[in-house]
Amino acid sequence: MPNKVLILPSRDDFEVNASDTLLEAALRAGLAINYGCSNGNCGLCKARIVSGTAVKIRHQDYVLSDAEKNQGYLLLCSHTAASAMEIEAEVANRPADIQFQEIQARVKTIQPLTDKVWLLHLQTPRTNRLRFLAGQSVALGIDDDSGSYAIASCPCDDRNLQFHIRDIPDNPFAQRVFHGLRAGETVNVYGPAGEFVLRPTPSRPLLMLACNSGFAPIKSLVEHAFSLDIAEDVHLYWLATVKGGHYMANWCRSWSDALDNFHYHELSAESLQAPNPDLVLAQISRDHLDMTQFDVYVSGPASFVSQARAALLQRGVAPSQLATAIN
Ligand code: FES
Repeated sequence: MPNKVLILPSRDDFEVNASDTLLEAALRAGLAINYGCSNGNCGLCKARIVSGTAVKIRHQDYVLSDAEKNQGYLLLCSHTAASAMEIEAEVANRPADIQFQEIQARVKTIQPLTDKVWLLHLQTPRTNRLRFLAGQSVALGIDDDSGSYAIASCPCDDRNLQFHIRDIPDNPFAQRVFHGLRAGETVNVYGPAGEFVLRPTPSRPLLMLACNSGFAPIKSLVEHAFSLDIAEDVHLYWLATVKGGHYMANWCRSWSDALDNFHYHELSAESLQAPNPDLVLAQISRDHLDMTQFDVYVSGPASFVSQARAALLQRGVAPSQLATAIN
């Protein structure tokens, strides 16, 4: 039977099995809890037991002082819960809560999603994972070639980072990915950056508007919202203005089939000169959704994002309910 753990003061909770450390279980639940090495060396995962009992299941080199031990401090990466627990620990809920990191990750796989969009899967060292919030971006670099990319995966799997790389002829980093980068090679990861994140305590359903590869951070937000179980209802409208623009439509459809509260709407407009959101907004109106009742997330090319933002504000969506990212 897993034990339930309540984190104070954030009141986030998660369940932990006897074979998992408190840190592993909290991360798997999608919580951006404070930690560093994950193997008992740095002390950054220090937390205080408020109630309940913990048991040590992994070796730790970091030494807690006698005063800390007397106050009930432990390392989350070396202990599990032996009963229901309350612990005092830091959970990052805002981008400002997370420090800038520099990590050397390895290419795990590179896989075409279409001929113009490839999936780059990086894996960080076990002892140096990337702390980030869903929806954020990082800079990726190989030698002197670099680029900023939204992370398309969930922070609940913080060792495995996924990116949707478009084949852009004058982008040197993209050209390295499409012509020559191999599994096992090193890619430098710098970040995270960006404010395109879920509200700490979402009180409204979520409305997601993606255009082309603006889908990448939206996918991260959707996965994170469901891993935290905070999503009442999620509506995703994905507009493609280029051939193969719905490059992960199968993922969307399988989520929509599996989850009653995930609704996927696919729209195509390959004839558009420049991506604009009119088609999406018209479809949302036809679906009788009151946009003012949602937290709205918009991601895509600059023209799509700026026009969607203006139109949503005009339709009564409050600026505090609206987050945008250019991708
Ligand atoms: S994360 Fe470094 S000691 Fe636990």
